Amino acid sequence: MSERNDADFRWPAIDPLDAYTTPERLARIDAVLRHRIVSITTVFEDVFDPHNIAAGLRTSEGYGLHDIHVIHNQFGMRSSSTVAKSADQWLDVRQHSSTQEAVQALKAQGFAIWVSDLQATETLTEMPLDPRIALVVGNAKVGISEEMRALADRRYILPMYGMVQSYNLSVALAISLEQLVPRRRAELHGWGDMSLARMWALRQRWLEFSQRHADALRRALQQEQA
Ligand SMILES: C[S@@+](CC[C@H](N)C(=O)[O-])C[C@H]1O[C@@H](n2cnc3c(N)ncnc32)[C@H](O)[C@@H]1O
Repeated sequence: MSERNDADFRWPAIDPLDAYTTPERLARIDAVLRHRIVSITTVFEDVFDPHNIAAGLRTSEGYGLHDIHVIHNQFGMRSSSTVAKSADQWLDVRQHSSTQEAVQALKAQGFAIWVSDLQATETLTEMPLDPRIALVVGNAKVGISEEMRALADRRYILPMYGMVQSYNLSVALAISLEQLVPRRRAELHGWGDMSLARMWALRQRWLEFSQRHADALRRALQQEQA
């Protein structure tokens, strides 16, 4: 695990757009990048309600996650364009056309598949953290698919004590993140775990979002240097 600390931290270069960005904005971007966690990712399996996906994306970003996966099986395709729209500039969202394809891609990257499932018996607090965790939530109608259940490395339940039988999926995601992310952040001594190269690339992208005339500015600066 990374043990980066603020004193060691140096960007590989100076971005000319820094000069056109307020110090407050730069400080905010840099702090967010240093806290980005990529060893936990959120996966929405066949969620048809775009509002739920939008809420889940927002919550994931708020917890400092960066990579999100959205699987479109039977229902999900209807929400794909809304996902693309609501997946704002701050996240990387990958869409998959099947559960199998998504799980294969995640496992190839070393992610263990942790599925929130009303049929599970284990609870999140009992589970030792894997180095990389893909946290899966299912849709409001049928929940998690049988295929996902079979492919899962772990399945967990969020205990409930009331009369209702399940949480809204974006709420289930938020509760799961609250139980997981602080544990991972403690392992990271309060920091994130995104690579420096990726943070730098993202920083350039975010500076461009902050600068409406970024393209023109970059071109002008390059011509000046030529
Ligand atoms: C509204 S629930 C789905 C209800 C569905 N009728 C079922 O039987 O699974 C939507 C998703 O949120 C997650 N979820 C909701 N409450 C949960 C709980 N108490 N424990 C684990 N996951 C939960 C699961 O991923 C579930 O697929």
